[in-house]
Amino acid sequence: MVVQVMDIEAPRAPIDQTATDTSSDAAALRPAAGQVWDAASYARNGRFVAELGAPLLEWLAPRAGERVLDLGCGDGVLTEQIAANGCCVTGADASVELTAAARARGLDAQLIDAHALHYRSEFDAVFSNAALHWMRRDPDAVIAGVYRALKPGGRFVAEMGGAGNVAAIRAALYAALAQRGVDAAAIDPWYFPNADEYGARLQAAGFELRRIESFARPTPLPGDVSGWLRTFAQSFLQALPEAEREPLVLEVREALRPILARRIAGAVWMADYVRLRFIAVRPSAA
Ligand code: BEZ
Repeated sequence: MVVQVMDIEAPRAPIDQTATDTSSDAAALRPAAGQVWDAASYARNGRFVAELGAPLLEWLAPRAGERVLDLGCGDGVLTEQIAANGCCVTGADASVELTAAARARGLDAQLIDAHALHYRSEFDAVFSNAALHWMRRDPDAVIAGVYRALKPGGRFVAEMGGAGNVAAIRAALYAALAQRGVDAAAIDPWYFPNADEYGARLQAAGFELRRIESFARPTPLPGDVSGWLRTFAQSFLQALPEAEREPLVLEVREALRPILARRIAGAVWMADYVRLRFIAVRPSAA
């Protein structure tokens, strides 16, 4: 496992906190282009996302009575665990289907565009697991919204895909689409920064960076990579007519078999995940 720990520099000046309030509404929502979330498929093929979120919950160290925003809460599995610590948690997600699934757990889940958070100094912590890499349109707008949402002294604790994340999967998708005349880069919904880049963005927004790490985390999949592709690579699949999508999935699976199918105990498929994990704090005086 490669762990890269960044040197922490003094924070730079905060961004302009007087910027116009851009309260979100359904019309403003723009989830990653082409990505359609299906709660059942997510539960089947993406359950590991929440299961592997346990270390991040330790970094969050939620305390009873705290107000926590779970940004990109998905179907609310981790949101529920935070609430179980006695926190008052709000989940936020840009997917109608996933916020509905989170509400079905009895959670407060809001349909919100993370690029236009409207909260002001409300939360003790903002938590985000495996969601920030979907917010590629304007990462600085997301970070600025989180900063405003936190109370002074509040913490931003998150994990996302880091530089090199799913590199083999991405390359196989690009190659298969190129053969069909599609420029995959133009429809790629993912943003995987390295620690230097994302750390600099956090500091430029006024955060104090307490900890940031990037590390490879090969991740066992519940089946072969085809279920993962059908669940998470919709932006790429949607570029093709419906009849051509499944053949593409199967072609990409076969291209990845020699790279990702490790015959350790049976055929276990491992996704080539790289994580970027950090804790950043809004200064108490800000
Ligand atoms: C991730 O958690 O790294 C991830 C999940 C789905 C698509 C891309 C990346």
